[in-house]
Amino acid sequence: MYNNDQTKALQQQTSEWLSAAKKPDITDLVTNKTEALRNCLRFHEYRYYVQNDPLISDSEYDSLYKLLEKFEKENPDAITADSPTQRVGKGLIKDFPKTSHLVPMLSLENSYNADDLLDFDRKARELSGLDTIEYCVEPKFDGASISLVYDHDMLSRGVTRGDGEVGDEITLNVKQIKSVPLSAKFSSYGIEQVEIRGEVLMNKKNFKAYNDALMEEGLPPLANPRNAAAGSLRIKDTAEVSRRNLEAFLYHVSYTAGAQRTTSNEQPATHSGMLEMLWDLGFRSPKSEMKIFKGIEGVIKHVHDFEKERDNLGYEIDGMVIKVNDLQLQDRLGMTSHHPRWAIAFKFKARQGTSKLQGVEFQVGRTGAVTPVAKIEPVQVGGVTVGSISIHNEEYIKEKDLMLGDTILIERSGDVIPQIVKSFAELRKGGEKKIEFPKECPVCKSALYKPEGEAVWRCVSLTCPAQIVEGIIHFVSKDAMDIRSFGEANVRKFYEMGILRSIPDVYNLPYNEIGKLDGFGEKSITKLQQAIEGSKKQPLNRIIYALGIRYVGETTAKTLAHAVEHLLDFAKFTEEQLMQLDDVGVKVAKTIYTFFQNPDNLQLLQKLEELGVELKNKKKDLVTGGNLTGQTFLFTGTLTQLKRSDAEALVEQNGGKLLGSVSSKLNYLVVGESAGSKLEKAKKIQSIKVISEEEFLKMLPVS
Ligand code: IVH
Repeated sequence: MYNNDQTKALQQQTSEWLSAAKKPDITDLVTNKTEALRNCLRFHEYRYYVQNDPLISDSEYDSLYKLLEKFEKENPDAITADSPTQRVGKGLIKDFPKTSHLVPMLSLENSYNADDLLDFDRKARELSGLDTIEYCVEPKFDGASISLVYDHDMLSRGVTRGDGEVGDEITLNVKQIKSVPLSAKFSSYGIEQVEIRGEVLMNKKNFKAYNDALMEEGLPPLANPRNAAAGSLRIKDTAEVSRRNLEAFLYHVSYTAGAQRTTSNEQPATHSGMLEMLWDLGFRSPKSEMKIFKGIEGVIKHVHDFEKERDNLGYEIDGMVIKVNDLQLQDRLGMTSHHPRWAIAFKFKARQGTSKLQGVEFQVGRTGAVTPVAKIEPVQVGGVTVGSISIHNEEYIKEKDLMLGDTILIERSGDVIPQIVKSFAELRKGGEKKIEFPKECPVCKSALYKPEGEAVWRCVSLTCPAQIVEGIIHFVSKDAMDIRSFGEANVRKFYEMGILRSIPDVYNLPYNEIGKLDGFGEKSITKLQQAIEGSKKQPLNRIIYALGIRYVGETTAKTLAHAVEHLLDFAKFTEEQLMQLDDVGVKVAKTIYTFFQNPDNLQLLQKLEELGVELKNKKKDLVTGGNLTGQTFLFTGTLTQLKRSDAEALVEQNGGKLLGSVSSKLNYLVVGESAGSKLEKAKKIQSIKVISEEEFLKMLPVS
């Protein structure tokens, strides 16, 4: 899409725009240049969303975007429909009108083994009279299918599959998918109208973050990224759709029309050529993921090999699609009433399985939430044996219509925790029983309570052992105080012995008594003691996160840590002051405020401080005089001595700044093992110093 010279020129323009953005009056600069700025933004969207290789940081992009918004506000008449600002929808969508596809959206025939593929190839050879057929093989993306229409180079509509003939028009939502260009130069191929097909996905990382957020709210998570993508496309609030960070792969041109005047490019004659054309026009097509084979044998090996790589991809695929590469031959082979004869899907092993719901146990978490956990007949799903599955809350049980004794469908997609997709009510024999929710805490027996508007029953007893134990487990855990040799089992053991009854006890353990326990030699005690001592100097954000305040995850904890000199300063904050902080809304502000108004909690913090835990903001002391003041850093590859997050924290603690990508603003690229494209790119920019982890450590003050 952009060659080297164009990339260099656009990078040069980017620097000019970025310095222009800092000037108070830029009107002179911008007259008649708005389209150039738009192009610059489109280029960076392409680098970020299609190529996955950004050249500027998020905040630099934001400042360019704000600049464009400013120009367009001053000159509203000059706004173009494909301006990057025009993705943002206004208000809520009323409904999704029904729209016919230009060409019906067919589904593919499925195959499951080598014999099925040999059969498919034999039929295609017989019909065509050819000895060998060339195939193009690409992933079968597991998302929601869409159809896009471009008229005179402008995106004019996006439509769901629907019944294959008629779907729902979801154009505004499609515009929220940043890898879908709002305009594309189809005219350079003599195409005036085109319909293209593809799949909308939510990648695994975003899906996990989305589900984590749902569960944090006490809401049941979604079963798989496919449901998440399909559901997101039907949301009537475009801002929310945008937050879901959807992606799209476009893999099929189903219709083209246009006067075949002289054009700069010839339309491709092969499917792989079409994928390249789409890529060159700015779409994310499976150009790099596709492979071409002469004959079916290579295809058979490739699809089996690819199945092994399935978990290493950032998104879910449920198989491969094998397509006859020659478009004329595709036409000759034609369709049956259901499927094209020129393509077939090869389905990977199912990640679903059926089982029986045998019982339900109720577990109490650190926030007192009582979670029902289904005990099921052990079943193999995607190579893992599943014996118990969280069924979240009462509402979820009702929604999924679950009963004890039911036959159920389980799904485990990728690294996502297994979930129940549905129960088979039609298979009930009459002996199934209703799942009864307890009225009292299964651990401490105090009455359960369900706050208004919430789906979760909670034990609110401050002395509930389950909550105390879970709270301490969280406190010592890897992402919190990171007390390595402590672990869940020791927390439980020490609690039962009566030597660990609250968080401060972590720093006051009777080591002589622990030494008498089986499995605790001198060595392991010293190790534990050292790990506990070391944790006293953890940065403030980790301490805040470790306290387990509701809704305060790692990101919010970092924001909070920046706001104070000492943790106890929060006792003086009002809810309004808390809400001034980034990402702190009404709900979060309330729980933080309540936490720091509670005298028991303040006493706990004072006790921790007396025991040597540093509640001062260590960063604040160091920021101005730090060794790295004014320098920018980026890490790449696997570090061997430090965790990436700790290395990044060290940069900030010592006055340095972290950047999100390689650019001329970067001073140091710290390279770990198996570094990739960032290193390559940094080598091309002379001013960047490429250093090893050891060299980085040497730059830090000796402590
Ligand atoms: S080609 C006429 N290619 O799988 C052929 N489909 O049952 C059009 N899918 O509904 C489909 N990845 O939503 C094709 N690389 C790919 C695909 C793909 C996923 C979906 C598509 C279709 C279903 C087939």
